[in-house]
Amino acid sequence: MMNEPERPTATYGFRDVDSRDKPSLVKSVFDRVADRYDIMNDVMSGGAHRIWKDIALTKLNPQPGEILLDVAGGTGDIAKRFVRRAKETARRRGQPAPAAAAIICDYNLEMLNAGRKRGLDERISWTCGDALNLPFPDQRFDAVTISFGLRNVVDIDAALRDMWRVLKPGGRFLCLEFSRVRSGALAALYDAFSFNVIPPLGRLIAGDSEPYQYLVESIRRFPPQEALAEKMRAAGFAKVGFTDLSGGIAAIHMGWRV
Ligand SMILES: C[S@@+](CC[C@H](N)C(=O)[O-])C[C@H]1O[C@@H](n2cnc3c(N)ncnc32)[C@H](O)[C@@H]1O
Repeated sequence: MMNEPERPTATYGFRDVDSRDKPSLVKSVFDRVADRYDIMNDVMSGGAHRIWKDIALTKLNPQPGEILLDVAGGTGDIAKRFVRRAKETARRRGQPAPAAAAIICDYNLEMLNAGRKRGLDERISWTCGDALNLPFPDQRFDAVTISFGLRNVVDIDAALRDMWRVLKPGGRFLCLEFSRVRSGALAALYDAFSFNVIPPLGRLIAGDSEPYQYLVESIRRFPPQEALAEKMRAAGFAKVGFTDLSGGIAAIHMGWRV
């Protein structure tokens, strides 16, 4: 009898699944929580995700006239901040509009619709597309971001390469993602909170604990700070660096296309 060829696997929380199954599994996670996604972020993080996103935008330093692509942009937190910051900068400098524009690209329509319901801005457009095969030409964007999205893709290296492809030479890339806590004491507390509090909170607020069990497990399997920086260099980014947030609970990685 012939042996079945081994199928490539991908991480899905603590499980390894057939890599062809991961996109639909992750999609169903976000289908289930889309309407409660924003409120759950506030409750789970005690509002910290807003501070992390604000710090990320300060580092990104949006400039009037720039175009951002926010990959796995979900309900649009990063794109909205980008456009607002660029507008404020233009106003401070006495420059006329257009200040900047952003495209949110996410493969989950439920998440995009939940974001649209929160309010539209003529400088922001919403596109349904896959991070592994971005529906944009080469060298199109001044900045590319991915916030709490990279952990969810089947192939992190391929996603990094495609984000590098659509970036203009001189453009900057920023990834905001959960990362590795540095101190043992904080890690123990954080683990206890993650595994004992977050899934039950998900059940209480979003009516479903499973997406949040996936969340806490997927964080543990995502590459730590240094390993992600190495992946970014391998994808072509230059001047790669990272900043820990809240002791490494999250981290901002940045790199440039030169
Ligand atoms: C945790 S949410 C992050 C949303 C938003 N960026 C934020 O920071 O609040 C992860 C998002 O990644 C999207 N996503 C996961 N895999 C994707 C892929 N392969 N292509 C595009 N979007 C993807 C999901 O649909 C979801 O909206």
